[in-house]
Amino acid sequence: MCGITGYIGKREAVRVVVDQLRRLEYRGYDSAGVAARVDGRIDVVKSEGKIARLAMMVDGAFPEARVALAHTRWATHGRPSTPNAHPHGDCSGQFVIAHNGIIENYLELREQLSERGHRFQSETDTEVLPHLVEERFRGCVETALREALREVRGSYAVVMVSSHAPDALFAARQDSPLVIGLGEGEQFIASDIPAVLPYTRRVIVLEDGDLAVLRENEVRITRLDGSPVQRPILEVTWDAAAAEKGGYAHFMRKEIDDQPAAIRDTMRGRITAEGAVDPRILGMSAERIRALNRIYLVACGTAYHAGLVAKHFWERRLGIPVEADLASEFRYRDPAIDENTLVVLISQSGETADTRAALRAARAGGAATLGIVNVVGSTLSREAEHVFHTQAGPEICVASTKAYVSQLIGVYLLGLALMRQRERITAAEEAAIVADLARLPEQVQAVLANEDAIVRIAERFAGCRDFFFLGRGLDYCVAMEGALKLKEISYIHSEALAAGEMKHGTLALVTQDVCTLCLATQARLQEKMISNVKEVKARDATVISLVRAGDTETPKVSDYVIELPATRDELMPVLAIVPLQLLAYHLARILEREIDQPRNLAKSVTVE
Ligand code: G6P
Repeated sequence: MCGITGYIGKREAVRVVVDQLRRLEYRGYDSAGVAARVDGRIDVVKSEGKIARLAMMVDGAFPEARVALAHTRWATHGRPSTPNAHPHGDCSGQFVIAHNGIIENYLELREQLSERGHRFQSETDTEVLPHLVEERFRGCVETALREALREVRGSYAVVMVSSHAPDALFAARQDSPLVIGLGEGEQFIASDIPAVLPYTRRVIVLEDGDLAVLRENEVRITRLDGSPVQRPILEVTWDAAAAEKGGYAHFMRKEIDDQPAAIRDTMRGRITAEGAVDPRILGMSAERIRALNRIYLVACGTAYHAGLVAKHFWERRLGIPVEADLASEFRYRDPAIDENTLVVLISQSGETADTRAALRAARAGGAATLGIVNVVGSTLSREAEHVFHTQAGPEICVASTKAYVSQLIGVYLLGLALMRQRERITAAEEAAIVADLARLPEQVQAVLANEDAIVRIAERFAGCRDFFFLGRGLDYCVAMEGALKLKEISYIHSEALAAGEMKHGTLALVTQDVCTLCLATQARLQEKMISNVKEVKARDATVISLVRAGDTETPKVSDYVIELPATRDELMPVLAIVPLQLLAYHLARILEREIDQPRNLAKSVTVE
């Protein structure tokens, strides 16, 4: 999320950091800002909107500055606005910081700092950091930063300038990338490699827990405890276009790999010390939650598929009707809504026209509305009564991957919070599910490590013209998302079917030329699914099965098997979608499709 750049050296520092920032523009942002050291003080300029606007504001303004940093913000805490734009300073303006990531304990830190007299200018989590540094400062800026960072929980890439250290730039990382670009008598820093590439190809990638001090002729790295550490210097050979994608051939492939981090980020700050979901994520009073008698989840495309998973997970335990609905249908079909209805709108962009119209219809009917939205400050996130932000970071490929997985995490967390408030789950059960959720990033990583097997399957089936995705229950929901991924980027005909429905029509299409992907990850439906697999096998179709580890039966009736790590049935969709994303990706790659921008499709569909 967001972009950070920094420079120290003999050039006009502000020009350099703004130029570097432009290299990160493709990632999307809502505001930008610069801090420069001028005449012993730190000057800050920020602006909502585009970098070009910021560039005009600072053009020629600080020609003498030799140390500067800059930031593009993609809102997570606090709406997009000039005060919320980075960098942020302390009360005295002597410590100025740009930050990527999320400070989880910022609310309590902010309260304590306010009690001690600190004044805050923004709604951001970041702003606690410079104030903490200010408090810890006893003459050494590096020590003060180190002590401040020890007090925060969460993820960060931070870059700091201080009027107390005229010849230095400070940086630190935890769970958010930061690279140093090495020059001759000058140093660069950035959250992503493309920002340093026009200046140097020699980089140091900081590791979690590293703190770096950059001077014109020196880069010194220590751990948070102060012990020195050496990091290797790498020579970047990528061209600029590849660098934007972090070295990947396509954004989609990169975003698939971003998923473990997206899961962690969406859970970040939402779990209490007791291992429960913080009920405040719902934003609704306990009374209102208890009065609910019906829930609709309304969305389009991939987000609708996340809504289907919610229907299954929520309805079983909540004991009230939960419906998933396409926004384009919902808005015109006069659904039964009253003040005891909750309408949940799911949208990555928060701008999809039909989903926005569905929100209006829900509000007009008096329902409570809750948005599950990735883009903070988007129309939905402003207009829904309550909002849960998914914190997946900007998604660039039109076909959604990490945003979908983070929507699933949102659905699980919100579902658990609803269940607790309605006393449909015990604290122990909830804690067990939360613990399983916390294991998902590692398990997704294990699925990603199995990519070679999926590449071989893609190579084998690149000539196939019809794919059927079959599943039952939650597997059917994932089958729909898998089929959508495949058709949208490879243009191969693919459709998902509830496995039990095959024999009511579609089985007529099954021949030896058809490839069927059978999802069999639900332990409680395994036997039923095996019968369906046999039905298509008997018609000579090729069967690729997705099974959970330990399932020895389904492989016996399958031609190819992709094994997934096992977790509880309800969470299997998070693991099951990953090989389907990879399969779609590799088929499209082999067929030389425009993966990131498929024909006829748009990332954000703002018209009906
Ligand atoms: C478009 C995108 C899909 C997305 C859908 C809903 O069709 O290509 O990836 O799932 O819109 O978008 P939203 O932003 O509302 O999640």
